[in-house]
Amino acid sequence: MVADLSNPGADPPPGGPLLLPVASGKGGVGKSFLAANLAIALAARGRRTIVCDLDFGGSSLHRFLGLPNRNPGLSDFLCGHAGDLEDLAVETPWERLRFLPGDGWTPLLANLPGAKKAKLIRHLARLAADVVVLDLGAGSSLSTLDFFGMTEAGLLVSTPDAAALGGMLVFLKNDLHRRIEKRLAAWKNPALSRLLKAEREKPLASQASSLEEFAARIAAAFPPAAAEIRSLGEGLRPRVVLNRALRDEEIEVAYAVENALRVKLGVTPEFYGFIREDPAVAEALRRGRAFLADHPEGPAAEALHRLAGRIDRYWGRRVPDTADRLARRLIRIPAKPPAGAPARPAARLAALGRAVRIFRGLRP
Ligand SMILES: Nc1ncnc2c1ncn2[C@@H]1O[C@H](COP(=O)(O)OP(=O)(O)OP(=O)(O)O)[C@@H](O)[C@H]1O
Ligand SMILES: [Mg+2]
Repeated sequence: MVADLSNPGADPPPGGPLLLPVASGKGGVGKSFLAANLAIALAARGRRTIVCDLDFGGSSLHRFLGLPNRNPGLSDFLCGHAGDLEDLAVETPWERLRFLPGDGWTPLLANLPGAKKAKLIRHLARLAADVVVLDLGAGSSLSTLDFFGMTEAGLLVSTPDAAALGGMLVFLKNDLHRRIEKRLAAWKNPALSRLLKAEREKPLASQASSLEEFAARIAAAFPPAAAEIRSLGEGLRPRVVLNRALRDEEIEVAYAVENALRVKLGVTPEFYGFIREDPAVAEALRRGRAFLADHPEGPAAEALHRLAGRIDRYWGRRVPDTADRLARRLIRIPAKPPAGAPARPAARLAALGRAVRIFRGLRP
């Protein structure tokens, strides 16, 4: 369901708030930084926003908001110490932005039991806000996959290095498996469930190398399941944010990611943002302040506001840009190079070569 953000002052849309989970395959790539500052930027645009710390056991969102962690949080709700999730959302210094702490006073078990997770998901989807930003833990725990699976268009953060990009590919593959298993569980066919589980548990080298191959394997035993699997892949549109780029050319990674995900997974990502490495991020953390409060201007702040603007404009629709067009816009390359100049200057070509090599050997 897609929320209508056209009227910022209205009650939450009947379909519930727009859910914006922020995930990554590898840890430490900037999810919490992004969740906190994106939430601030969305609130500044007039959206009633709640930002939630769903990184149980690794809560750090409060630090990126410059807030203390002394309020009861989601873990208290899950342990039954708090009645209504809504009441746990604390006000922040920013108008229209509330914060839902994670661990609060009661550290939570690492693995959330299914019934508690389902209850939390139900309540998150009913929060009274225009946008609910969810800061997730790194990697592919079932809880993280299920929070990410609350929408078809979650944000995926990666840095432009091979380890983080590889992690993103693996995360998306796990996400697809989880969605397929959940969708087909409704068929209540134990033999099909066993087959899906067996595929998931195969060693990486013998797993299907694309969604199409996976669908074909399942179709051999359950022909109608293949169409479901393909339609699931087509419906997904993970939104990728490249963070901590050191050079403009690193945006070429976007192009290589787009191709790799389409060919290897059968999923078409959309590029949402490109944020430069900025020493002011660490400086703001040291001072116990939110980055956008401390540094409202500069390239990283601009990128965060641009990202919030894209969310406002395109959330319910496909972004019209290809990775290439977005790259040109974000790093301000003229659409048409001057007569006689190459379309991709040498530095960008070299970066593209590096990015393609990163993906060549990766098997999702
Ligand atoms: N654009 C940036 N420029 C400079 N430093 C950054 C940037 N983005 C994030 N960082 C730094 O990177 C580190 C990791 O960021 P953050 O904690 O947000 O990552 P994470 O993905 O949430 O990590 P985890 O998986 O552990 O939750 C922090 O020290 C943060 O200050
Ligand atoms: Mg984090």
